[in-house]
Amino acid sequence: MKKILVTGSLGQIGSELVTKMRSIYGSDNVIATDIRDNGSNVVTEGPFEILDVTDATKMYDLAKKYEVDTIVHLAALLSATAEKKPLLAWNLNMGGLVNALETARELKCQFFTPSSIGAFGPSTPKDQTPQDTIQRPTTMYGVNKVAGELLCDYYFTKFGVDTRGVRFPGLISYVAEPGGGTTDYAVEIYYEAIKNKRFTSYIDKGTYMDMMYMPDALNAIIDLMEADSTKLKHRNAFNITAMSFEPEQLAAEIKKHIPEFEMSYDVDPARQAIAKSWPNSIDPTAAQEEWGFKSEYDLAKMTVDMLEKLKIKLS
Ligand code: SER
Repeated sequence: MKKILVTGSLGQIGSELVTKMRSIYGSDNVIATDIRDNGSNVVTEGPFEILDVTDATKMYDLAKKYEVDTIVHLAALLSATAEKKPLLAWNLNMGGLVNALETARELKCQFFTPSSIGAFGPSTPKDQTPQDTIQRPTTMYGVNKVAGELLCDYYFTKFGVDTRGVRFPGLISYVAEPGGGTTDYAVEIYYEAIKNKRFTSYIDKGTYMDMMYMPDALNAIIDLMEADSTKLKHRNAFNITAMSFEPEQLAAEIKKHIPEFEMSYDVDPARQAIAKSWPNSIDPTAAQEEWGFKSEYDLAKMTVDMLEKLKIKLS
């Protein structure tokens, strides 16, 4: 990776990945793009261009203009929004991906795009979900993710594009908030714990999902992209995870630091149904063996850091 084009740079992952990549590869070597300009450091601290990922010509032209050799394609609608607007999700998630893959093919770029625990469905084994298993998701987001995994494999075998990817669990961070996801409750809870000392969860108690703190997610992207390709038996959509918890466990961890914190429930049937269709925990062995995936943050360590950083941010 020397010169990198990032789509969806102002989203939850991009907002931190761009900064981290600029510190590693140099500010001028990370071209951030997004459909909007929010004036943040991603926009001001290096090259930034407006890009709607459904505009194939503009994506290609930007990649060519900056002579990039790597594309990190992040722009996508998350699960709950995709369920509300399935056709838009199909057009944006699949249209954006195929445009990014075509650009990578034509300009011989290395390629990364995230898949998700959303690529699994109700018939997938729920606990320690294997790397290679049944994938029959019941959400539009899941359909997009499975199709995306297959498409990335196809571009590798058919055209030799160096495509790589992981299945991210719910990502927790204090910099940019996620939007329209099912796992977002695990981010919102920290904001509400600091602001109001209470949180009403739209995900029901007892609903386990995999999660990861953003620093581990960023390292995973960079480590996979830097990994020796001869060691990769899989290329796309490695299972990775750092922890699995349900809302009560998260609340109990927050209570250790904010004893007055109170949790109540007002379950959203739409997002609860999505959560129920996903695994309780996934098995990251293939990622560990093939490119040395590791995570640093468990629930306790993440909670200490989240609360500390958010207190500063919100004060
Ligand atoms: N965090 C995502 C969501 O909830 C899953 O990839 O949609």
